[in-house]
Amino acid sequence: MGEHAKLTLEGKDYEFPVFIGSEGEKAIDISSLRAKTGYVTLDPAYVNTGATTSAITYLDGEQGILRYRGIPIEQLAEHSTFVETSYLLIHGHLPNKEELQQFSGLLTRHSMIHEDMKHFFDGYPQSAHPMAILSSMVCSLSAYYPESLNVYENMDIQSTRLLSKLRTIAAFSFKKSIGQPIMYPQDRLSYCENFLQMMFAVPSRDFEFDPDIVRALNILLILHADHEQNCSTSTVRLVGSSQTNLYAAMSSGILALWGPLHGGANQAVIEMLEEIQRSGMKCSEFVEKVKDKDSKIKLMGFGHRVYKTYDPRAKILKEMTDLILSKKGKSDPLLDLAKELEEAALTDPYFIERNLYPNVDFYSGILYKEMGIPINMFTVMFAIGRLPGWIAQWKEMMDDPNSKIGRPRQIYTGATEREYVAMDKR
Ligand code: SDX
Repeated sequence: MGEHAKLTLEGKDYEFPVFIGSEGEKAIDISSLRAKTGYVTLDPAYVNTGATTSAITYLDGEQGILRYRGIPIEQLAEHSTFVETSYLLIHGHLPNKEELQQFSGLLTRHSMIHEDMKHFFDGYPQSAHPMAILSSMVCSLSAYYPESLNVYENMDIQSTRLLSKLRTIAAFSFKKSIGQPIMYPQDRLSYCENFLQMMFAVPSRDFEFDPDIVRALNILLILHADHEQNCSTSTVRLVGSSQTNLYAAMSSGILALWGPLHGGANQAVIEMLEEIQRSGMKCSEFVEKVKDKDSKIKLMGFGHRVYKTYDPRAKILKEMTDLILSKKGKSDPLLDLAKELEEAALTDPYFIERNLYPNVDFYSGILYKEMGIPINMFTVMFAIGRLPGWIAQWKEMMDDPNSKIGRPRQIYTGATEREYVAMDKR
């Protein structure tokens, strides 16, 4: 008989089974709680609530461990590519040669968007935030692939199609925003090379690839590829649980990611660093402002719901940024400022007591900037990286014969029953 949780309510004893995961994580299975007791649990922001079991990504927030399908993120960053890691997340194992060739071939074949979709870009003001364009373009793909409305039909081709087209839509929106002609994807190029040429090539001259930048882009996208049940992934699962089409579910993930507390933090970090630089404020002064609750200022790129130690991704990004800049014989005052801020925070009791460390967003923006990616596209880069994770999590849910539409409960605290009052009596 496995471990049980005992609960006494109104003098009655209840028992609920304990669920233990493959890494020893423990949960109380309360799926029968309301039926047995009439009670529901209350857990705003789901801080203590597991919404699902999952075999995709494992995080240990205390140890700073992140593994995709059991493989440590450090090994994937060192040896893998974004396409190979996407396959691993979605299909559960590293692809052999044939599988990788076939997957890459599909990404190449589906890299274009319908020519009519180009007109969508003309409707946006030049100042439109690319996350608004990205989410609406992704949702609009369902209009060009009506077969996707039957969500269980050809899930693989729909998701592979989107993996390739998201990158194209992002690059096209950038070209439109700077008034340059769009550059079409080229079959002979790898996933990351294609993105870079669609972003930065111009018809009048050959495009030179910097292998360090191509490698850095692969690693950046690998590091962002999945992160278990974060805000945007939970959004994708909840929206997808209504059996809406893939494009609608992924579009909702893009919108959740946009928030500055989530994926929008990479843009907010650079804006914060540039503001400190512009104001001439010392790091110590800024840290004092952050500690003053009334200032409502956060140290963006710091803190995490799960990691209570250094985010392993931030460690890799910090080293990679150093390497890329030193190889180019460059320095970036924003990187120096970020390091100074990190040092000031990590020695300050306010941050130590709250286990606040750099997260994935603290250094990523400095690398994106070095690649020439504009600040308002940093969260778009996060979305391109996170898409295989959203797809893998969505597929895991859709493939589960026991999955149901997500529908949390509430505890009502409003007015009890009262009569309608006619206007002349109010
Ligand atoms: C991502 O979930 C994921 O996995 C997300 C992600 C992924 O890959 O999908 O890892 C990507 O979203 C990373 C996080 C990016 N966001 C930021 O960098 C924004 C700044 N960080 C914070 O807003 C905050 O740390 C969160 C949102 C990330 C986490 O917030 P929690 O878990 O709700 O923690 P909290 O707000 O309850 O903070 C606990 C305490 C509070 O102080 P007290 O009330 O105890 O006095 O820590 C303080 C907070 O005020 N705090 C901060 C802080 N983060 C938390 N104080 C100053 N600066 C910060 N950044």
